[in-house]
Amino acid sequence: ADEPRLRDVAADRDFEIGAAVAAEPLRTDASYKKILRNEFNYVTAENALKMGPLRPARHTYDFRDADAVVDYAREHDQTVRAHTLAWHNQTPEWFQEWDYTDGQLEDFLRDHVHTTAGRYRSRVDAWDVVNEAVADDGTMRDNLWYDAMGERYLDRAFEWADEVASETDLYYNDYGADGVNEKSDAIYDLVSRMLDRGVPIDGVGLQLHALHEKPAPESVAENVRRFRELDLDVQITEMDVAYTPADDPGDRDARWEKQAEYYRAITEVCLDEGVDTLVVWGVRDSDSWVSSWFESLTGDPLLFDAGNDPKPAYHAIKETLETY
Ligand code: G3I
Repeated sequence: ADEPRLRDVAADRDFEIGAAVAAEPLRTDASYKKILRNEFNYVTAENALKMGPLRPARHTYDFRDADAVVDYAREHDQTVRAHTLAWHNQTPEWFQEWDYTDGQLEDFLRDHVHTTAGRYRSRVDAWDVVNEAVADDGTMRDNLWYDAMGERYLDRAFEWADEVASETDLYYNDYGADGVNEKSDAIYDLVSRMLDRGVPIDGVGLQLHALHEKPAPESVAENVRRFRELDLDVQITEMDVAYTPADDPGDRDARWEKQAEYYRAITEVCLDEGVDTLVVWGVRDSDSWVSSWFESLTGDPLLFDAGNDPKPAYHAIKETLETY
């Protein structure tokens, strides 16, 4: 009989192993689709469910790419997490020309959340309602939503999503806060305040873009534990493991072994700490955002190589799910 696929091994553990999906290769690349449907039981949209792509103009929505990702996942019995409703990045380009009042921006966000979260209410399992609201120094990020509404924008976005999709799990998602550090301390304080205000938040997403010096797995475990103690779910939402020249062994096979060990360690943390979802940020190394965003980093952070073959990291996660 064929080797069990990663998604089957995960399903046996009630574990969700996911990938961020781009609409373009989903339409055109048969090898991409074969890996995606065979190996992952969980899917997120890398870009298609962001405000910019959804909103070509002030009073219009374009759900075609988003529907392509969500429909493909559901055809292949994959659970979908949606990313993201309120973020400082990837806002519509025409915002630059819109001279809005604070009230108009709030009305826009309310309509966006109600319409978008309402449309996918029975088709997605979770939303990143707010993404990256905390700055790297732990202060609240001074973004357009914060300028118009203060910290209240987070409360309102979660409440509006809950109004139209109460059965969807509502997440706060961020990067660089995977281990215990100044930023994850600030996020812990933020979500604690939100819980005290009765905001309907269900979980925290740790992106885990291990691009530089890695967060040590035991620090990730300690961080996860404190959010779980707030009775929040935790998901690893955007994992990739790239290397700076300083921490790159220089030899590709050595780097891929090192990378595999880190994926293994994080999978073990998930199983130890009650995290039942790990999403990697792309399907193949050639699909990764890293190579196009950072010259100095190795561009091979994912589970499959540019030739569609599984890497040591793939086997490390699979073996851990089979034996740990
Ligand atoms: O689709 C347009 C295309 O029509 C246009 O011709 C082209 C040139 O302007 O841009 C294309 O959009 C790009 C989009 O990716 C799709 O390829 C945007 O410019 C580009 O900024 C966007 O980058 C994405 C980035 O988020 C910003 O939204 C990356 O693919 C995506 O991997 C990255 O993902 C983020 C998460 O959402 C949040 N956490 C961090 C993570 C990495 O930055």
